[in-house]
Amino acid sequence: DQQVTFFEAVGGEETFRRLVHRFYQGVAEDPLLRPLYPEEDLGPAEERLRLFLIQYWGGPNTYSQRRGHPRLRMRHAPFVIGEAERDAWLKHMRDAVDELDLPEHLDEMLWKYLTMAAHSLVNAPVSG
Ligand code: HEM
Repeated sequence: DQQVTFFEAVGGEETFRRLVHRFYQGVAEDPLLRPLYPEEDLGPAEERLRLFLIQYWGGPNTYSQRRGHPRLRMRHAPFVIGEAERDAWLKHMRDAVDELDLPEHLDEMLWKYLTMAAHSLVNAPVSG
């Protein structure tokens, strides 16, 4: 039987393109997050996150063809990610998800995953 993937249900590549583009517009203006990104051009980072999310949600596996296994914890190890960085990341992602105006159950699925993933990538002890 035919199962519609989450990727298809939310509108395919175009939806992920909008999501991640809006997210990086937020990052570009964020004084806490922007310095973490090593490249002056955020375009390649935007593409990597877009391809990863597309693959995660059942779309084409272009991400792994180009980058191999995601290994997100390892790939974030060079960046100091504390609670403040996590919350800033999630704030821009929340704005970006809001702009998609998805049906509630799809919004909820996406948001649940993103918050879980962001919490799992904190790698710096809480200060104070
Ligand atoms: C890469 C920061 C959470 C997925 C990166 C990079 C930075 C970063 C600085 C390097 C940019 C690049 O050159 O690609 C953060 C911060 C987070 C966070 C501060 C806050 C918790 C997440 C989450 C996901 C994610 C929740 C997935 C749902 C990725 C991916 C890459 C990446 C796929 C590219 C990996 C690669 O192929 O090299 N992130 N990130 N990040 N991040 Fe995050």
